[in-house]
Amino acid sequence: MTAPQAGETGTPERKPVILSGIQPSGDLMIGHYTGALRNWKKLQESHECFFALVNLHAITVYQKPAELRRRSLELLALYMACGIDPERSTLFVQSHVPQHAELGWILNCITPIGQLQRMTQFKDKSRRNEKNINAGLLNYPVLMAADILLYQADCVPVGDDQKQHLELTRDLAIRFNSMYSETFKVPEPYIAPREEGARIMSLQDPTAKMSKSDPDRNASLMLLDPPDVIRAKLRRAVTDSGSSIAYDPDERPGISNLMTLYRIVTGIGFEEQEERYSGQGYGPYKKDLGEAIVAFLEPVQERFKEIIGDRKALEEILDAGAAKARDRARRTLDKVHRKIGLLGGRRY
Ligand code: TYM
Repeated sequence: MTAPQAGETGTPERKPVILSGIQPSGDLMIGHYTGALRNWKKLQESHECFFALVNLHAITVYQKPAELRRRSLELLALYMACGIDPERSTLFVQSHVPQHAELGWILNCITPIGQLQRMTQFKDKSRRNEKNINAGLLNYPVLMAADILLYQADCVPVGDDQKQHLELTRDLAIRFNSMYSETFKVPEPYIAPREEGARIMSLQDPTAKMSKSDPDRNASLMLLDPPDVIRAKLRRAVTDSGSSIAYDPDERPGISNLMTLYRIVTGIGFEEQEERYSGQGYGPYKKDLGEAIVAFLEPVQERFKEIIGDRKALEEILDAGAAKARDRARRTLDKVHRKIGLLGGRRY
């Protein structure tokens, strides 16, 4: 999972490029932090980062327009509240950069439908949205590939559930390069180990991924949940049979999931947790974890409140981000146009 460092990618002064994004399709939960934002924050020190709010992805499932607008600004404020710095990283809205949809179309033309039909997320989402199995849902991973390849990203920090999409992205880059000559950088996934939160599980069913769209509100821990809600969700979290605090994700997925969260919010490792809570059972453990999460999220929630209050500043950040992103995306797309024989290149 090591990300390339500056100087390792050819030109010595060029910082390696990172691209990642989150859909503004629901409230952010702790898995988004552990799988994505936490790593983004670390990587922005050493990388040139582009972080998108991927609203074109979100509309593959119907979104109420007013909510989509509100959530998009909230998502930006949460990126920032979690430590993503707009002075260092380019923060932008996917739909403000039309090159995403355009490259998505071009890549569709080299993507076998069978590969899209086999995608786990497509199968899951089709099951959950039986009444709206639209073409966008199927083509979703191609748009994601376009997001990444437009920026010539070296590396893509995501949670474990995005692995298959990144494999497709790499396949498409390799296929395009071999059909039309070297054009795209083939990106590497950056997925933290399981113990560091690459896949946080549901609090109600520790064999299923925690998801913002889970209809059971007790299953997911939202970044903006008030303290009492956090405490209650932790109290109700499903654990395993037995009562010892021991990390074993295969045999004891419930407590292991909680231990992962504990480790992330306090920095206390598994062995030390096991020692501290030896013989105490789940009750005190869950109570302390609840308090630790409350304390961890409190400053994030405070910062969020401040940031979301200044809408004008948020819009300025997005305007500046879109201009930078468009500039980079246009360069790649011009090259693509030339390579595949679209007439005129840059002039249009
Ligand atoms: P999305 O919006 O579902 O989730 C955003 C990020 O959060 C991670 N994540 C998790 N990590 C750990 N445990 C969980 N339970 C958990 N749930 C979600 C996801 O892995 C992701 O990193 N297809 C993407 C959005 C996207 C994208 C991109 C990402 C569109 N274009 C280009 C990277 C690069 C998605 O649906 O993420």
